[in-house]
Amino acid sequence: MAEIQLKNISKRWGSFVGVDNFDLTIADQEFLVLLGPSGCGKTTTMRMIAGLEDVTEGDILVDGKRINDLEPKDRDCAMVFQSYALYPNLDVYENIRFPLRMRKVPASEHNERVMRAAEMVELKDFLHRKPAELSGGQRQRVALARAVVREPNVFLMDEPLSNLDAKLRVSTRAQIKNLSHELKTTTVYVTHDQIEAMTLADRVVVMSAGVVQQVGSPTEIYDNPANTFVASFIGSPAMNLVNGTIENGTFTCPGVTVTGIDTKHTGKVTLGFRAEDCIVGSAAPSISAPVYSMELLGDATMATFRVGDAIASVKADKDFRAEIGETVSAEIPPALTHLFDATTGERI
Ligand SMILES: Nc1ncnc2c1ncn2[C@@H]1O[C@H](COP(=O)(O)OP(=O)(O)O)[C@@H](O)[C@H]1O
Ligand SMILES: [Mg+2]
Repeated sequence: MAEIQLKNISKRWGSFVGVDNFDLTIADQEFLVLLGPSGCGKTTTMRMIAGLEDVTEGDILVDGKRINDLEPKDRDCAMVFQSYALYPNLDVYENIRFPLRMRKVPASEHNERVMRAAEMVELKDFLHRKPAELSGGQRQRVALARAVVREPNVFLMDEPLSNLDAKLRVSTRAQIKNLSHELKTTTVYVTHDQIEAMTLADRVVVMSAGVVQQVGSPTEIYDNPANTFVASFIGSPAMNLVNGTIENGTFTCPGVTVTGIDTKHTGKVTLGFRAEDCIVGSAAPSISAPVYSMELLGDATMATFRVGDAIASVKADKDFRAEIGETVSAEIPPALTHLFDATTGERI
């Protein structure tokens, strides 16, 4: 059981603000992902929860108890880092067992707990190998098992997949998802990879420059981004954002006209729309322009246009082909557009 309350926590070093007024309750058993670009304050937030970094302002409560002044070792958080930090001279079994010895867990329990953790991450056949004899993915699984074996109140994971190649990242990601489903331990997971965030999280916290931009389920942040920062960070490709003006529900900018947008807003605006929502070759095109680039993705074809100073992508079916420079048309369904304030970037 662990509900974590972050009550307006901030971290400052001199006048530099690393994390600004972070206020959130993480539910018991929740899988929370902190997502944002490098330097936005994800690791700092996690280190404050772990007790590795003092909180400049605010309180951290676990199950209602203030833990600001507790030593890291007394917080019952198990951490997994990007670098596996295994003991090179110990084999897999002893690496997994290490936290039990450190925490003076009765020796009679060790074997059962180590074997259970090893089984969860599929390492039973590698127990007597040294870390040097393992692949990167296997090493990261040892680090996971070493966190699991403690049966902690809270898991804190900081970019645990970053050192793995693309294929291993996908399979290890699935393993973490399955593990969290089985263990139901409150987890705070840090990543700069929006796909990891979307696939793993119950809720995602999108951060930029120390400030929380939006908190929501993966679907909420994908379907209703709170501002252009979130819109441009989530999705692959990210949401198209083009500047123009809107009047009587019609958005225009050079090369793009979308009619029938349900809004009373007039004047300058940023229009957002997703590549997969566009209908290529529609009889009622909103955009008609020479193709700037074509990408074959296998399951779809992506056509890209230049729109003013921006680039916009539309997704066509996998057999669609056009030459670069050839004029292609696509419809942007008005109901699936997003409007943002042209100055602040906030959702309208
Ligand atoms: N000990 C420190 N002293 C001063 N600035 C720091 C310290 N640790 C981190 N920072 C700064 O705080 C910001 C947030 O860092 P961090 O939380 O590590 O970002 P992230 O994990 O999102 O990449 C960065 O600009 C970083 O340079
Ligand atoms: Mg970090």
